[in-house]
Amino acid sequence: MLGSMILVALLPTLNATYRDKLLETMTNVSHNAFANEPGVHQFALLTPRYNESDNTSLYSIERYTDNAAFQSHLNTSIVTDMFTWINASNIYQAPPTVYQLGPLSSTTENASSTSPSPYEFVHPEVAKAEDPFVVVRQVDYAGGAKAANASLPYWKEVVARARGDSEQSGDDEKDKPGSASTGTLAYGVFGSSDQAGRIFVLAVYVDETAFRQNTAAEGIEEGIEVSQPRFLKLRGGFLYKPPA
Ligand SMILES: *[C@@H]1O[C@H](CO)[C@@H](O)[C@H](O)[C@H]1NC(C)=O
Ligand SMILES: *[C@@H]1O[C@H](CO)[C@@H](O)[C@H](O)[C@H]1NC(C)=O
Ligand SMILES: *[C@@H]1O[C@H](CO)[C@@H](O)[C@H](O)[C@H]1NC(C)=O
Ligand SMILES: *[C@@H]1O[C@H](CO)[C@@H](O)[C@H](O)[C@H]1NC(C)=O
Ligand SMILES: *[C@@H]1O[C@H](CO)[C@@H](O)[C@H](O)[C@H]1NC(C)=O
Ligand SMILES: *[C@@H]1O[C@H](CO)[C@@H](O)[C@H](O)[C@H]1NC(C)=O
Ligand SMILES: *[C@@H]1O[C@H](CO)[C@@H](O)[C@H](O)[C@H]1NC(C)=O
Repeated sequence: MLGSMILVALLPTLNATYRDKLLETMTNVSHNAFANEPGVHQFALLTPRYNESDNTSLYSIERYTDNAAFQSHLNTSIVTDMFTWINASNIYQAPPTVYQLGPLSSTTENASSTSPSPYEFVHPEVAKAEDPFVVVRQVDYAGGAKAANASLPYWKEVVARARGDSEQSGDDEKDKPGSASTGTLAYGVFGSSDQAGRIFVLAVYVDETAFRQNTAAEGIEEGIEVSQPRFLKLRGGFLYKPPA
């Protein structure tokens, strides 16, 4: 199981020095989480991929089994030490923005089930990717929760395509995992815990070319407002932890 509580945080630090220090501190936190916290499934630290003039923004994508696992993470000494430093030093130019995401409804029914979700997949190869191309997208439905719900069949298809389900692969491709053929290492469609009618897409591709090819195949839905995708570069932490 991948965990039902997901946080995407934008941490706008005051300057490049603070960002580097925060990145280093959170990378240390990620090492501890990887080794000692089974309830932490993802703890990735990223920076904007293309905007060289932005040397202050840090992003984290964190995934926990549930809120209890998150609370216990916050209670580790390495995390409380970090917050002691953050609270005592003025490291931010603006308050962090934290989005809370969760699995889409049909998957929460059996949160502990091992059956694969139709809304996401993770290829273990993602852990070895040299420079994974990470994209965070936010989609807001003008028609609110009902419209977002109505779009779920569309998203199921998008996930299936990203996974490579529809590929008519030849015999020599049979043993390859489907997503290898699409260059998509991980793809997840999630609901927003804070705002009904909002969907988040977290995707990881082998490179930018794979991103462009896959999104060209996606098509455009009607009645939605898609915010500018955030293209991110992995700088520390981990995108995937093998199940214990
Ligand atoms: C991160 O951990 C390393 C190794 O334990 C340590 O040398 C370094 O000071 C730590 N960095 C921060 C910012 O805590
Ligand atoms: C960070 O960016 C700012 C403005 O773009 C620049 O003035 C500053 O020198 C940069 N700092 C570092 C350490 O690169
Ligand atoms: C790039 O970063 C600068 C400095 O943080 C910011 O003002 C600008 O809006 C960013 N550009 C884009 C396209 O995100
Ligand atoms: C937090 O950790 C302390 C010891 O470090 C422990 O006594 C306390 O019960 C923990 N609290 C929670 C909510 O886990
Ligand atoms: C840091 O500040 C936050 C919010 O003001 C507070 O909830 C938290 O307990 C503080 N943590 C530490 C370690 O001081
Ligand atoms: C959830 O799990 C239960 C027990 O394993 C099973 O009977 C039920 O069909 C599952 N529901 C769904 C929607 O998969
Ligand atoms: C969501 O859509 C499904 C069909 O796709 C429908 O069966 C279900 O009732 C809808 N749920 C809500 C809360 O609108």
